[in-house]
Amino acid sequence: MKQARRIGFLLLLLAGIYAMPAQAQQNDAIRPGEVWNDTDGNPINAHGGGMLYHEGTYYWYGEYKTGKTILPEGATWDCYRTDVTGVSCYSSKDLLNWKFEGIVLPAVKDDPGHDLHPSKVLERPKVIYNRKTGKFVMWAHVDSADYGKAAAGVAVSDSPAGPFEYLGSFRPNDAMSRDQTVFVDDDGRAYQFYSSENNATLYISLLTDDYLKPSGKFTRNFIKQSREAPAVFKHEGKYYIISSGCTGWDPNQAEIAVADSIMGPWKVIGNPCTGPDADKTFYAQSTYVFPVAGKKDAYIAMFDRWNKKDLPDSRYVWLPIEFKDGQITIPWKAQWSPASLETSNK
Ligand code: GAL
Repeated sequence: MKQARRIGFLLLLLAGIYAMPAQAQQNDAIRPGEVWNDTDGNPINAHGGGMLYHEGTYYWYGEYKTGKTILPEGATWDCYRTDVTGVSCYSSKDLLNWKFEGIVLPAVKDDPGHDLHPSKVLERPKVIYNRKTGKFVMWAHVDSADYGKAAAGVAVSDSPAGPFEYLGSFRPNDAMSRDQTVFVDDDGRAYQFYSSENNATLYISLLTDDYLKPSGKFTRNFIKQSREAPAVFKHEGKYYIISSGCTGWDPNQAEIAVADSIMGPWKVIGNPCTGPDADKTFYAQSTYVFPVAGKKDAYIAMFDRWNKKDLPDSRYVWLPIEFKDGQITIPWKAQWSPASLETSNK
């Protein structure tokens, strides 16, 4: 009798657990390299991403990767790919729990010539907000399947959660553009940072006031140093850029550089990563750095741990940047919480 009652109780408990909405599944920490579920209980799908903080909410944009990963026939290098699905957006207030806002820039399936056709490449989307025009502007790397097009694509929206209207692509300043990011300075001017000259040299290009085009003013930086995956931030009046070397989806050593002026000249500091596998950027590659709103010296560095043979299963490595005794480091942490940042970094 006692046994039957106990089993009955256990069954009730299990039924209760299964009946709970997926939303009840709260993330309590960031665990770099582990599967990170959204509030619906699905793995977050936003690779090569960027972050926008707007009116109290964080918006995380990235490459939405689904389906089979294939190496195109006749490939001469490891250009593993998935078909283009689009750019996804997730929103959060606590940086731990992310709500899927949908595909805010979807693939264009019915036009094989379109930049956003599934057969093309759409990578490293970043969104910035233009205070003057009230528009959200997305810049992304758009390419042909063999990466020969090397162009930047631009899209706009009236809302951070989209939908974004695609405006087209071009080679900024008549130069190749692959890995890229955009950054808005305190004075409202925006810049595109992009790997150019076949990834050998990094261009920094001032955008027009509406953020939709290059202004024509640009500098060539890290000349012939082959840096990509640029992630830019500003701290105490100085500009920093974290980048990777060029080894495709395979990891290599990260590098941080500093400048007094955003257009350069830049001075290389070295590898900011410390701890196990720091020489391989924890088997990941930089994509973005952002300051945590309302906290002093709290910045989060976002990296992608690519799984080149199963790209949709690529993971996120998010780590806090530490500023101590004039040194900037990114120590490995198996688990941490954004809530702990203010005290630990002050
Ligand atoms: C990397 C780049 C990625 C992707 C990949 C393709 O170097 O950072 O965004 O383009 O190459 O192999």
